[in-house]
Amino acid sequence: MLIIGIAGGTGSGKTTVARSVIDRLGTGKVTFISQDNYYKDHSHLNMEERSLINYDHPFAFDNELLIAHLKELKQGLAAQAPVYDFTVHARSTTETEELLPNNIVIIEGLHVLSDEHLRDMLDIKVFVDTDPDVRILRRVLRDIEERGRTIQSIHQQYLTTVKPMHEAFIEPSKKYADLIIPEGGENEVGIHLLSVLTEKYLTGDQQWSGA
Ligand code: C5P
Repeated sequence: MLIIGIAGGTGSGKTTVARSVIDRLGTGKVTFISQDNYYKDHSHLNMEERSLINYDHPFAFDNELLIAHLKELKQGLAAQAPVYDFTVHARSTTETEELLPNNIVIIEGLHVLSDEHLRDMLDIKVFVDTDPDVRILRRVLRDIEERGRTIQSIHQQYLTTVKPMHEAFIEPSKKYADLIIPEGGENEVGIHLLSVLTEKYLTGDQQWSGA
């Protein structure tokens, strides 16, 4: 099993890169994991308390569970990933997503390269590098349209946690990347390179130690 990790700041285009690679390889051949689904659950807190949490610090994620699921997949077992609901800052109590073992696993998220234990499980490490102004513009649209946020709350959160955590943890994790893809989903060449490399693994033309 080959595990590809795709990191990058909020709004960088990580998901678009992952989805584009999956489209080129064929959906059935890849298991896709979003680190966002592994946000720690805060359903015991009220909404006011939940909205004040720092969701951009590496500790916001339940990486132990994520690593346990990757190990299960490596053993050929299915895993039940939690599903996260951003509109209420909590894990769904009714829904899980079944992850099936596959030759290729793509995991994308803010901190897939900043956590040492998670990083050690990755065979190909990718960082999607997009300018901060582009990222915040995308985030404003997405958070208003899909996550039920106001411009005031986005402004406040960006300055108090998103930007400082990006500078402290996410940007420095770029040094661990094997491949840096500037401008994410718009970078056809970068996506093509990653897809070709992954295809070579699928056809057996390329071997990775331990994969
Ligand atoms: O998809 P993206 O990588 O942008 O998702 C991560 C972002 O989601 C983080 O920057 C974090 O601020 C935000 N988030 C949030 N509310 C939550 C959980 C995460 O705004 N309850």
